[in-house]
Parts: sequence; C-alpha cells; structure tokens
Amino acid sequence: STDWKLPDHQKIAKNKVVGLVVLDGWGEYKDDQYNCIHTAETPFMDSLKKNAPNRWRLIKAHGSAVGLPTEDDMGNSEVGHNALGAGRIFAQGAKLVDFALASGKMYEGEGFKYIQECFGTGTLHLIGLLSDGGVHSRLDQLQLLLKGASEHGAKRIRVHILTDGRDVLDGSSVGFVETLENDLEDLRKKGVDAKIASGGGRMYVTMDRYENDWDVVKRGWDAQVLGQAPYKFKSAVEAVKKLRAEPKANDQYLPPFVIVDENDKAVGPIVDGDAVVTINFRADRMVMMAKALEYENFDAFDRVRFPKIHYAGMLQYDGELKLPSHYLVSPPEIDRTSGEYLVKNGIRTFACSETVKFGHVTFFWNGNRSGYFNSELEEYVEIPSDVGITFNQEPKMKAVEIGEKAKEAILSGRFDQIRVNIPNGDMVGHTGDIEATRVACKAADEAVKMIIDAIEQVGGIYVITADHGNAEDMVKRNKAGDPLLDKNGKIQILTSHTLQPVPIAIGGPGLAPNIRFRQDLAGGGLANVAATVINLHGFEAPKDYEPSLIEVTDS
Ligand code: 3PG
Ligand code: CO
Repeated sequence: STDWKLPDHQKIAKNKVVGLVVLDGWGEYKDDQYNCIHTAETPFMDSLKKNAPNRWRLIKAHGSAVGLPTEDDMGNSEVGHNALGAGRIFAQGAKLVDFALASGKMYEGEGFKYIQECFGTGTLHLIGLLSDGGVHSRLDQLQLLLKGASEHGAKRIRVHILTDGRDVLDGSSVGFVETLENDLEDLRKKGVDAKIASGGGRMYVTMDRYENDWDVVKRGWDAQVLGQAPYKFKSAVEAVKKLRAEPKANDQYLPPFVIVDENDKAVGPIVDGDAVVTINFRADRMVMMAKALEYENFDAFDRVRFPKIHYAGMLQYDGELKLPSHYLVSPPEIDRTSGEYLVKNGIRTFACSETVKFGHVTFFWNGNRSGYFNSELEEYVEIPSDVGITFNQEPKMKAVEIGEKAKEAILSGRFDQIRVNIPNGDMVGHTGDIEATRVACKAADEAVKMIIDAIEQVGGIYVITADHGNAEDMVKRNKAGDPLLDKNGKIQILTSHTLQPVPIAIGGPGLAPNIRFRQDLAGGGLANVAATVINLHGFEAPKDYEPSLIEVTDS
C-alpha cells in the first residue's frame, strides 16, 4: 500500500500559496508572422522570459516525453495534463493500442470476445475520428482493426466516420475517406459486406466533451443509430466533397449525413444484436457517446430507440464510472498523482477552467479520475463555455472569468494551490483563424497577469507553463521551417497542435531568491513539473517521480 506522507523539503519553506497556470496550446517557436503568440501583444509572458533567465526555460511536450509512440507525435491536452499531474511518463492510449494490435493480444481480450459474440448474425459498427492525427484515434489502427475483425469472423461491418481537420489539415478528410473506401473495397472482394454508413464533422457530430452540448452527440446518434440525417448520399467520398463545397464548410463542422442504398434506405443503422466499437482511444470526446450507447437510464436526449447491442470502447474511457464496461485495450493506470499526494498532505486545492477545458485540470490532471480526493480540502469550479459558436467568434472566451475566479480563490486564503487552465491559445488556434488567435493570446496573457497580481498580493509563488504547442505556429512548414505552399501557391493553415516545446516560468514573492532552474536537465519535459510543484509546496517529491526542475543554491 502507498505511503502517502511526503517528507518535508530540507530547504524550501511551507505554507506559500502556489498559483499554477496552464496556458493551453502555448508553445515556443521562432518569431514570424504565423507565430500568433509573437505577433500578439503578450507583455506579461514576454517579461517572464526576458527578466528572469534562471526562472524561465523550455520543456518538452510531445512524443516520448509524454508517452506517445514516436517523436513525430505532437503533444495534446490529455497526455500533457496527465504528465503534468502524474509526474511520471505512462505509455498512453495510442501506444497501448499499437501494442495490442501488433501482438494480436487485442483479439484474445475479453472486450473483443464480447463483441465477437454478435458476429454470427449482427453487424459490427465502428464509430470514431477518421484521420492520422494520433490525438484521439489513428487511421492505421482502424485499418488493422477492420482487417483483424474480419479475420476473426466479422461478416458485416459498418463504419461511422467523423471527419477531423483539427488534429490534421483542413481538407484532408477527402483523402482519409478515399483510403478507407479502398480498404472496404478490399474487404468486399474477400466477401465481407463492409461499408461506410454515416458521417459528420467531429465538432458538430458526436465528439463533444465535458457535457458542453449534448446536441452534438444527439446528431451523431440520429445518424449512426437511427440512420437519420439531413443529408443522404450514395457514397461517403461524394458526401464529404459535396458538403465541403458549401460556403464556409470545413472538416471539423461538416453536417451529419447517412449513406443510403438505391432505395434511399440507410445502409447501416445500429439495431438489436449488433456489435459497436468506438475506435477513439482518448476519452474526453467519446465518453458522452459511450453513456448514450451503454446506459439503460439516460435522459440527456431522446434516443428514440435504444438498441440491445454489445458495445466496447477501444479503451475504457472512465475508470471511476467503469465506462464502457467492455473495452478492447486496458487504459494506462495512472496512479499516485501529485494532486492526490498533495491533498493527502493537507494541501487545499482549487482548480478551475471553462467547460471545454475543465476536465483537463481535474480529470486528466488527476490521472483520468473524476471527482475529489477529499471534498473538504478541494474545490473545482467550472465556468460554462459558450455553446453553439466556433471560438474564433469569441476569442477572449472566458479568460477574464477564469482569472477572476482564480484571483478570488487566491485572496480568500482558503487554498494552498490554485490551478487553472486558460484555453484561448488552443481553442482559437484550432479554428485556424490567425487574427482571432492573436486576440486569444492577448486575452490569455491578460488573464495570467491578473492571477499573478493576486499571487504577488498574498506573497505566493507562481508556476506558469503550457500543455503543448498550438498558437505559436499556424502554418504548415517544410523541414527547413518555411511555409509549405499548396498546389495553388497558397499557404496551408495549421489548425493542429505542434511539436514545439513549451515555456515554464517560476516566480513570485514567496519564491526564495536562491531557487532557480537546474542547468543539468536539458531534456526535461512536462512530467518534471509535478515534482517541481511538490517542492514549491515545501515537500520532497516521491522517489519515482521524474526529477524536479529546480535547485536551491547556497547563496
Ligand atoms: C481536441 O480534442 O480539441 C483536439 O483534438 C485536441 O485538443 P486538446 O488536446 O488541446 O484538447
Ligand atoms: Co488542442
């Protein structure tokens, strides 16, 4: 059993308020016109870099530093906040699914056996994000699963696609659908009745998160389960091409469509006796759909029909809720997080963000665990996000409100740690709207300033960092770093995250003058932050945590 008592730090005093700010999607990159953090007015963040070289540095936020399969994997909020909170690097969903597919273990597991029970007479439905982004899902994993499932007895398969354009370039959906169609064609040649059955853009259909807008999930349900959508097409390639041709259309927000046969009948609604797998490995944007597919009692929207199916997630999305109860691959077991240690050592903790990032500083931070460790010592505040808009329309989002709440919490004297996520750089960066992203970065900078002013007032300490890059680079580039032009000679806007490192800054009146960043941890990454924060609260970090970034000098 775990010894939760943290030893006192030999040189760092206790009882300082620590303000912990995560700027979502805020990486460090060269200064050019597509670096929105550089071109925006961000005087506060600029001053940290300029004025305190020993207390500002860069840390890795992508690839193996956050448990992703390769160094070509950009960072993301799930793995980023997991690493920040857990202080160790865990092999993440993307990697675990790769192992299970490569070794064939997936097909020996309970989850696959459970869906396999339907293969005799039922259809296997695969629902998920169709791209090679590697953030929520990966196309090659879907391809392997299609092949493996058919080799293990699936005779009728329907794929319900969600187009991306957020973790990959906008417009790439067409190519992904073509690739999938080719694979399905190959399966058909082998006698498997395999088709795409429905689709829609990920931000408009199915993949909402943190219960921001159930209508998104309902639109998916109607198309995938009921076979009903405002658009009907004979082929998915045609669907995506036609819907993309509408003014202002993009992959992220394509309306829902169903594929119909020559009699105009949907080719793949989900019915009694079918098997369903949601192929995303990442939880936040699939857990709402999982509830709709699994819960007998459910009132978030009218499901009209609740088919008796065998449902499995690619992973289990919520370990507390045990949801879904069946899954193909076990999720990473992220235990003994810094949040749990600190609360068990009496640190009164406040966490806050707006809805679209709320689970990041709570659920992901705490190792994919929802709820409090100790409700007497913790308070988590969610500020409702705007619903039904794209965030370039409101690029300031709720930055001021988050700043206000954090400030209140700091000044109240009721908390030892105040932890917030400021979403603007990321959420607006994902829209690809450069002007709006600048406004977003400025708003984020102002919110940080508000919080740090409050920390100054109470004599506290601050730690400011980010979970991964996004707003610092808004254009696709070649290896040399120059913007890559498409065949019409136009730049290609980068809506996704990046491979860039992120800054971390420490400071505040409570930080003793002899504390600074170590010089010998050049390879440090997000997982080194937890031990750093534990130290700043006056404790030694657990021995197996990645090393702290700070040192206390003699002078
Ligand atoms: C999303 O889910 O919005 C993107 O795929 C990834 O963004 P996040 O990792 O910053 O949440
Ligand atoms: Co993001």
